[in-house]
Amino acid sequence: MSDDALVIFTPSGKRGRFPLGTPVLTAARQLGVDLDSVCGGRGICSKCQITPGYGEFPKHGVHVDDEALSEWNSVEERYKSKRGMIDGRRLGCQAKVMGDVVIDVPPESQVHKQVIRKSATERVIEMDPATKLYFVEVAEPDMDEPSGDFERLCAALADQWQVGAVTADLSILRRLQIALRKGEWKVTVALHKGNHDAQARILDIWPGYHEGPLLGLAIDLGSTTIAAHLCDLADGRVLASSGLMNPQIRFGEDLMSRPLSCCCGWTSGAAPIPL
Ligand code: FES
Repeated sequence: MSDDALVIFTPSGKRGRFPLGTPVLTAARQLGVDLDSVCGGRGICSKCQITPGYGEFPKHGVHVDDEALSEWNSVEERYKSKRGMIDGRRLGCQAKVMGDVVIDVPPESQVHKQVIRKSATERVIEMDPATKLYFVEVAEPDMDEPSGDFERLCAALADQWQVGAVTADLSILRRLQIALRKGEWKVTVALHKGNHDAQARILDIWPGYHEGPLLGLAIDLGSTTIAAHLCDLADGRVLASSGLMNPQIRFGEDLMSRPLSCCCGWTSGAAPIPL
């Protein structure tokens, strides 16, 4: 039976056995693990930072003792006191393998940092956004028929746009009186009405006629990547896109191996939500 220690790297899952005393950076290089190093292991660049895991790892079938790596040394102490280092991190070039260990390589320490290219597919779609702008002329208050501003706004929406029941948050109601008077009883409202919503909801209000852009954010929450596209709800144009790796990827590709709080996996039908 070999005295070599089992070293498992995440998120790559690469593993191998190494003689006790092997620097983690050396083990990573021999396994082809993506662990950065600029100073050649001199403890200067800090590119080789790793996060060792301790305790039970049923998925990997290994138990990691507290002494699985060599003790925190003076090079690491010097680096941490001068430049700072996240608690729990070690320098891969300084920490040596002393027992079976699971080592996580954080994204900053990976040479080939992932570039997320998840572009929105260009295709012709008929725009029918759940949120639209409505310009309405609201009746002025009348002594003979006392009613509230919101009541009269709802009546105007029903009369001019055939919009039924409408709700509004307190933040909208607080601005309603000012908007109506500033717009001389004409306002534009951003109204959201989903397919299954019983009531339309006022999301924003402007005095007079407002033509400003109405933007929505489509989020594609995938098990590997997360992408977001800023869309113009009027014509469907994608104005900006961005993405990142789903941080839960380090728990494994298998969704069942991820923490219970994770609810990813919804990858299709990303619909813009109004901003
Ligand atoms: S390789 Fe530069 S600090 Fe470890």
